[in-house]
Amino acid sequence: MDIIIKNGTIVTGEGTFKADIGIEKEKIAAIANRIDADGAKVIDATGKLVMPGAIDVHVHFQLPFCGTVSADDFENGTKAAACGGVTSIIDFAIQKKGQSLLDAVSARKAEADGKVCVDYSLHAVPTDWNPNTPGEMEKLASEGITSFKMFMIYAKEGMISDDDALFSALETVSHFGGIVGVHAESVRVLDLLIARYHNEADMKQYGAYCHVLSRPNFIEAEAISRAVTWSEATGGKLYIVHMSTGEGANIISNAHKRGIKVFAETCPQYLLLNDSVFKQPNGHLYATCPQIKKNEDSERLWDGLASGDVSTIATDTCTFDTKQKAMWDGDFTKIPFGLPGVETLLPLAYTYGVGQGKITLQRLVQLVSTNPAKLMGMYPQKGSLSVNTDADIVIFDPNREVKLSYKDLQTNCDWSPYEGFQLRGYPSLTICRGKVVAENGKFCGKIGFGKFIKRVSGFNEL
Ligand code: URP
Ligand code: ZN
Ligand code: ZN
Repeated sequence: MDIIIKNGTIVTGEGTFKADIGIEKEKIAAIANRIDADGAKVIDATGKLVMPGAIDVHVHFQLPFCGTVSADDFENGTKAAACGGVTSIIDFAIQKKGQSLLDAVSARKAEADGKVCVDYSLHAVPTDWNPNTPGEMEKLASEGITSFKMFMIYAKEGMISDDDALFSALETVSHFGGIVGVHAESVRVLDLLIARYHNEADMKQYGAYCHVLSRPNFIEAEAISRAVTWSEATGGKLYIVHMSTGEGANIISNAHKRGIKVFAETCPQYLLLNDSVFKQPNGHLYATCPQIKKNEDSERLWDGLASGDVSTIATDTCTFDTKQKAMWDGDFTKIPFGLPGVETLLPLAYTYGVGQGKITLQRLVQLVSTNPAKLMGMYPQKGSLSVNTDADIVIFDPNREVKLSYKDLQTNCDWSPYEGFQLRGYPSLTICRGKVVAENGKFCGKIGFGKFIKRVSGFNEL
């Protein structure tokens, strides 16, 4: 045995119990009341929670977007992940026009390999649907990429998929048990409304709040309804990414009642912030798509997380610093859209979810680890604590008090949407495949240690 974690409270998606965990090389070798082994490094977890490492299935590191490149690259972004108790991330391989989906994945892998500090995978993003695409998707699934992402917006960025491509992608994954993640916003009406507010008088009067005015809740709700319709018609599994509205949660809930296998993710920004941030002098910093909504949406999303309408919390990390955000220069259509987040996912979800009685501890583990692993075909290798699975573990101090400041974080961001938030509960130690990669919020792993996770289709039942 190389490492023994002693005296901790183990929390998995199934339950909570006291036990020691023994780690040998990259795997969990034993879980028992008492484990002793000569020469093993002993980590005392008295008073701490021992949970499967968090899995953030929605990050955009070094993403060329909105005229710049997101500020956390694969190296620093995954260091930040480790510091926050996240042991696996999934980023995106976005196809360029004329490029094959397979080449898009190879190119993105080449950017990540050798740099990533925790384990990673990629969602393949078809943006140039053609007769080869279904075959390429099936080939990727056989190579471990079982999830695909479609954007219903971002026409000028060249990333949009129209309904025919979305329908075809869902049809395709229904054949091999993959899943399609969808950014659901209704592009035509959205573009109409953006154009309406994109004038000097409104931008002078409302500033970054134009981002809110141009994106009423029905923009997301209509697109989710449509995607659910295509999922129901094709039998293809659908995963709504970064769901921000209460209406969205209602649509998913109704689909579940009809027995349709659709899943939804939400993010801390939609749970903890409201659209009044856009009225602040620095409101433009908070611009992300979909935008942050109202308190009643947050409440409905928390309820959905507790009840099962919403299956995961991820972050949609897409970091832009204040200099990059300043590119907007008063024009809300030019703000680099995105927020930092991977590093603060777990402590925020613990403090404001478990700490405020909105979700149980067990549900937290399901939402940030077990369910993402199951939906994305990584379970039980990831997202569980059981013998012979990867030793991806976070030792979490439920009593550690931290006043959140960007200055203490690893992320390459000179501000935080959660600046000054009072946290109770923070990761003490992060172990990825048997190696300690962060301690008390500081990275201590190795650059390039992270491995590509070969995922498996068909593990989508929660
Ligand atoms: O504004 C955001 N969320 N930027 C990243 C791209 C996306 O839509 O997920
Ligand atoms: Zn998106
Ligand atoms: Zn995203």
